[in-house]
Amino acid sequence: MISDASTFFAQFIRHPLATGAVLPSGSTLARDITAAVPRVGHPLVVELGPGTGVFTRAIQRRLAGRGHHLAVEVNPKFATDLARRHPTVEVVRADATNLGQMLAQRQLVTADVVISGLPWAAFPAGRQRAILDAVIGALGADGVFTTFAYRHALPTRPARRFHSLLTGAFDEVTVGRTVWTNLPPALVYHCRRPLNPDAGPLTS
Ligand SMILES: C[S@@+](CC[C@H](N)C(=O)[O-])C[C@H]1O[C@@H](n2cnc3c(N)ncnc32)[C@H](O)[C@@H]1O
Repeated sequence: MISDASTFFAQFIRHPLATGAVLPSGSTLARDITAAVPRVGHPLVVELGPGTGVFTRAIQRRLAGRGHHLAVEVNPKFATDLARRHPTVEVVRADATNLGQMLAQRQLVTADVVISGLPWAAFPAGRQRAILDAVIGALGADGVFTTFAYRHALPTRPARRFHSLLTGAFDEVTVGRTVWTNLPPALVYHCRRPLNPDAGPLTS
């Protein structure tokens, strides 16, 4: 949507590092990154960094009125617009680092799926680790975490560091296809079975 693109670009000018991109993601990437949202049951889906809501819409389509969708966005403009457009999504204006407190305040035990739109490669090491720790702490033993990376940025140090954090934090990390139509081209990391030292044994 053109208005989403202009809102996004304006927020990039104001907050370049936190926004981390000049344009919102495209619908094909949104479909790939939300494929882990179950089409049955009542899952708790946490979305980090929804921005103008391209992943939000895809999650809502898959949930089709089921479950609980918590969207955590640090930028007040994005958070306000998103809450107005998606009354069935619980939008929290907060830093993703505080995910554990957010779930505890709502007496939500563990998330089934965490979907990240965060700009990991723009984060310093300490922030990457702190947010990933919060994600791991929020996921159940069978929980799934999906996040994306820009293809051109994969060789950079922060992107490589983040990938190695992921492989240390999950039993399985698979890399999805490159979505060449995304601007810029991007791919999804699908991460399963968090290696959470505080969690119980994996169910067989
Ligand atoms: C690259 S944009 C992605 C937006 C959207 N998911 C998309 O793909 O079009 C990154 C988003 O993460 C948000 N963000 C950055 N740091 C954050 C943090 N610590 N906690 C929550 N949201 C954050 C930004 O405000 C922005 O909306």
